[in-house]
Amino acid sequence: MYLRCTMGLNNILFVMTLLLYGAASMKSQAYFNKTGELPCHFTNSQNISLDELVVFWQDQDKLVLYELYRGKENPQNVHRKYKGRTSFDKDNWTLRLHNIQIKDKGLYQCFVHHKGPKGLVPMHQMNSDLSVLANFSQPEIMVTSNRTENSGIINLTCSSIQGYPEPKEMYFLVKTENSSTKYDTVMKKSQNNVTELYNVSISLSFSVPEASNVSIFCVLQLESMKLPSLPYNIETNKVERKESEQTKERVRYHETERSDEAQCVNISKTASGDNSTTQF
Ligand SMILES: *[C@@H]1O[C@H](CO)[C@@H](O)[C@H](O)[C@H]1NC(C)=O
Ligand SMILES: *[C@@H]1O[C@H](CO)[C@@H](O)[C@H](O)[C@H]1NC(C)=O
Ligand SMILES: *[C@@H]1O[C@H](CO)[C@@H](O)[C@H](O)[C@H]1NC(C)=O
Ligand SMILES: *[C@@H]1O[C@H](CO)[C@@H](O)[C@H](O)[C@H]1NC(C)=O
Ligand SMILES: *[C@@H]1O[C@H](CO)[C@@H](O)[C@H](O)[C@H]1NC(C)=O
Ligand SMILES: *[C@@H]1O[C@H](CO)[C@@H](O)[C@H](O)[C@H]1NC(C)=O
Ligand SMILES: *[C@@H]1O[C@H](CO)[C@@H](O)[C@H](O)[C@H]1NC(C)=O
Ligand SMILES: *[C@@H]1O[C@H](CO)[C@@H](O)[C@H](O)[C@H]1NC(C)=O
Ligand SMILES: *[C@@H]1O[C@H](CO)[C@@H](O)[C@H](O)[C@H]1NC(C)=O
Ligand SMILES: *[C@@H]1O[C@H](CO)[C@@H](O)[C@H](O)[C@H]1NC(C)=O
Ligand SMILES: *[C@@H]1O[C@H](CO)[C@@H](O)[C@H](O)[C@H]1NC(C)=O
Ligand SMILES: *[C@@H]1O[C@H](CO)[C@@H](O)[C@H](O)[C@H]1NC(C)=O
Repeated sequence: MYLRCTMGLNNILFVMTLLLYGAASMKSQAYFNKTGELPCHFTNSQNISLDELVVFWQDQDKLVLYELYRGKENPQNVHRKYKGRTSFDKDNWTLRLHNIQIKDKGLYQCFVHHKGPKGLVPMHQMNSDLSVLANFSQPEIMVTSNRTENSGIINLTCSSIQGYPEPKEMYFLVKTENSSTKYDTVMKKSQNNVTELYNVSISLSFSVPEASNVSIFCVLQLESMKLPSLPYNIETNKVERKESEQTKERVRYHETERSDEAQCVNISKTASGDNSTTQF
């Protein structure tokens, strides 16, 4: 922000101008469809009455979100996209923006002016950089085609929905007793053109090894964390009677509440030994 300097400007005001020009910027984070906070951090050290202050917030396109004119809300200058979406917290000089959309990310500025006898004097400015997040759902593995007796190939798809920003990568992790293999596959993504949220998915065609217990995970790598799926377990017993039992593949669906051991599918080639212990 530039201040139009007039002839009578004194040194103190000039120093203030520099301070205002290099105004502090704060990072702020909000979740999609929730409420965001745009702080102003005004301390009012001179204890100026609200009746003498003009306070407003604007976005990076200079559209006004909220204005408090000498202690009274002034909706006239508020842009229609922000009408009814804000509330001002007088206690800590924070503006709340409700029903946050992905489009709301960006830079916001709060200005405090003193309306004195000589007109409006800038007193304080605060910039906040708002980023918007939406949590992806826990990745979920689905069987798109079961393995058959002769192919031994199982086709899996893993998907996660309604998140933002775009994930870094997504992959399958196949764990056996003494190995852990990462399968990189192409991540398919689709973005909703209204909400701007992403759906992502990957697919794997996996050849199930003859004699090992396998746990398949799907991992969504986000900016700062990994979001793993529940395991998909394939369990095999190296027992003699496979000829007779192989044809009777038994699939059990087992669901519990606990996320680290729930909702697994155990495929066993024998009638016994339905036990697996898997941790991510
Ligand atoms: C926003 O949140 C409300 C409840 O808080 C919910 O009913 C609505 O479906 C959500 N909208 C979106 C687009 O997620
Ligand atoms: C402002 O105060 C509210 C509670 O009154 C608190 O939840 C919020 O975190 C505060 N915001 C800032 C920026 O201090
Ligand atoms: C600020 O001014 C009000 C009256 O305008 C007064 O009641 C209050 O005590 C003052 N507070 C401080 C910290 O000076
Ligand atoms: C999103 O995930 C983070 C980290 O797991 C959690 O702290 C936060 O509460 C979640 N937010 C919403 C809106 O679900
Ligand atoms: C896989 O096989 C099981 C049991 O035979 C069946 O319940 C399930 O629907 C099959 N899944 C698919 C995707 O064909
Ligand atoms: C571990 O790997 C070795 C060598 O690849 C293999 O011979 C052995 O059977 C594996 N052990 C288990 C328990 O799978
Ligand atoms: C994302 O997934 C949800 C739920 O399956 C679906 O309703 C929505 O249409 C999908 N969006 C896109 C952009 O594919
Ligand atoms: C979003 O996409 C759908 C179909 O893909 C289209 O009918 C609709 O007009 C689009 N909306 C906007 C706001 O672009
Ligand atoms: C499994 O996936 C592979 C590779 O995408 C494909 O060639 C194959 O036809 C699929 N199998 C079935 C039974 O759909
Ligand atoms: C698979 O797990 C079952 C039960 O823990 C065990 O009996 C069997 O020997 C395991 N098979 C292999 C090949 O490790
Ligand atoms: C299937 O696997 C899960 C996770 O490892 C395990 O908790 C459950 O007991 C298994 N189900 C059967 C029937 O063995
Ligand atoms: C599964 O195996 C573990 C050790 O491998 C054992 O402690 C547990 O009791 C077994 N569970 C069942 C249901 O057999």
